[in-house]
Amino acid sequence: MMRPKRVLVATFFLFLVVFVSTAAGGGDGEDGSWQWKVLQTSIGVSAMHMQLLRNDRVIVFDRTDFGRSNLSLPGGRCRDDPNEKALKHDCTAHSVEYDVAANTFRPLTVLTDTWCSSGSLAPDGALLQTGGYNDGERVARTFRPCDDGTCDWEESPDALSVRRWYASNQALPDGRTVIVGGRRQFNYEFFPKKSSSDSAAISFRFLAETKDAVEDNLYPFVHLNIDGNLFVFANNRAVLLDYVKNRVVRTYPPMPGGEPRNYPSTGSSVLLPLAPAPMEAEVLVCGGAPPGAYLDAKTNRTYRRALDTCGRIKITDAAAQWDMETMPGPRVMGDMVLLPSGEVLLVNGAASGTAGWELGQSPVMAPVVYRPAAPDGARFEEQSEASRPRLYHSTAVLLRDGRVLVGGSNPHEGYNFSGVEFPTDLSLDAFSPSYLSFKNAALRPRTTVPASPMQLSYGERFTMEYEVGTAVEGGVRVTMVAPAFATHSFSMNQRLLFLEATEQDSGDGCRRVEAVAPASGILAPPGYYMVFIVNGGVPSVGIWTHIG
Ligand SMILES: *[C@@H]1O[C@H](CO)[C@@H](O)[C@H](O)[C@H]1NC(C)=O
Ligand SMILES: *[C@@H]1O[C@H](CO)[C@@H](O)[C@H](O)[C@H]1NC(C)=O
Ligand SMILES: *[C@@H]1O[C@H](CO)[C@@H](O)[C@H](O)[C@H]1NC(C)=O
Repeated sequence: MMRPKRVLVATFFLFLVVFVSTAAGGGDGEDGSWQWKVLQTSIGVSAMHMQLLRNDRVIVFDRTDFGRSNLSLPGGRCRDDPNEKALKHDCTAHSVEYDVAANTFRPLTVLTDTWCSSGSLAPDGALLQTGGYNDGERVARTFRPCDDGTCDWEESPDALSVRRWYASNQALPDGRTVIVGGRRQFNYEFFPKKSSSDSAAISFRFLAETKDAVEDNLYPFVHLNIDGNLFVFANNRAVLLDYVKNRVVRTYPPMPGGEPRNYPSTGSSVLLPLAPAPMEAEVLVCGGAPPGAYLDAKTNRTYRRALDTCGRIKITDAAAQWDMETMPGPRVMGDMVLLPSGEVLLVNGAASGTAGWELGQSPVMAPVVYRPAAPDGARFEEQSEASRPRLYHSTAVLLRDGRVLVGGSNPHEGYNFSGVEFPTDLSLDAFSPSYLSFKNAALRPRTTVPASPMQLSYGERFTMEYEVGTAVEGGVRVTMVAPAFATHSFSMNQRLLFLEATEQDSGDGCRRVEAVAPASGILAPPGYYMVFIVNGGVPSVGIWTHIG
């Protein structure tokens, strides 16, 4: 008579396991799979660069000079380019437009080489993309968003003062973009060229001073500080640049340890979320590689352990110092993405080696979330592992629904799908941070007003209405996030502002929050942002908002 009882107990435990895993684990990451979803197994092009546009399309592009991609250009179109290095007659696409809502993509035509280039959004929401290699090194390209599938790249040759390869862009309060550095360019320039004084490249010695034997200062980390100056980090050092007067107004202490953090020892960096009417700003730099790691990997295939530290600095502090923190593991080529909750996601990359062809090893599969406001020692939390390694030339961008679009990885000089450890990856994944887990569903606000994009002026008060299952005590917060240009583990123009927000007690069952737009273009350069209502750390779907 023991047997049926045991079966019963076993059945009960089975039921318990199934019940618990659907009720909690089905949504809270315990099963290790819900956070990752494959959106496309192949878009035909590897996502070396990505930018989200104001119509929820993501522009993806690679380089043009490595041969055929896996996507044909439509209508029998081909590129015939006598300057092309690999293929002078090429009928494949090297860029696509990905439609998030429809989960579809279409090929785009880019004619000159966009390899390792930079980008930012113009105030009107057009993608301004600058530089590249070979015939593309001084080209500026524009992609104006459209909803009818007819828009494509427009290219302006010789638009830049000098060649820009591995440069970083930052959108400015006056609507222009500054383009900083690039290989063998110790200078910056503005775009578009509004006056004759914009035509020159302006010398910036700091970039020459931070270049070592393998450079280690490419794709410098550039952040617009709340005093209007540019914080520029290269290799292991940082300065504050007054780009108007062309003067370095502050030199920060070097990061402790002295290890390089920029390409090819690629770490990543964000300006941490800004408080309402901020009095201070902080920068976080994570990961990188020890000195010599690039040459060791390149010359004798010795892959050194990547850096496992982050440095955090209050750049507005008169006695600014780096606070060093330790990540759950080493990471080089990790992408840092500001989440609408005010947290930072670290995703992609490798645990050893560096950036560069074939130089990264031991992919880091589990992303990490960093909580800036948590006590030191309790800030990092590992997330569920991805199913695909994303090494050199992978990217990640925030979507308006709170997910993160992850793509790319091509550590080879051309597309290579066989006989290699890390094949070229043409897929797109969506990563869902834990705020999107099933168990947080009741916390997720649903914005009802406005129902469509907003237009705001600086300092303007505006009201949003929302519904929510479980409102947390203390009320909601409102965040405003700039869509960033991601490449080489650095997202240019990434910016998150907490807005002054007051919950309105209307008594009619309708929930309202009154918020105040940022005071100036220094805090939020003119252009498009996503505005989120955040309840207990769980963001709504964002509302596209134009400011300026
Ligand atoms: C890309 O095309 C090549 C050549 O046709 C093929 O072998 C490979 O499987 C394709 N890769 C993907 C991811 O579609
Ligand atoms: C090559 O590998 C050894 C370790 O086996 C290392 O000590 C040496 O410095 C490496 N690097 C170069 C550039 O030769
Ligand atoms: C892919 O890489 C392997 C290993 O280096 C090489 O043998 C092969 O020729 C490459 N294939 C292509 C298509 O380049």
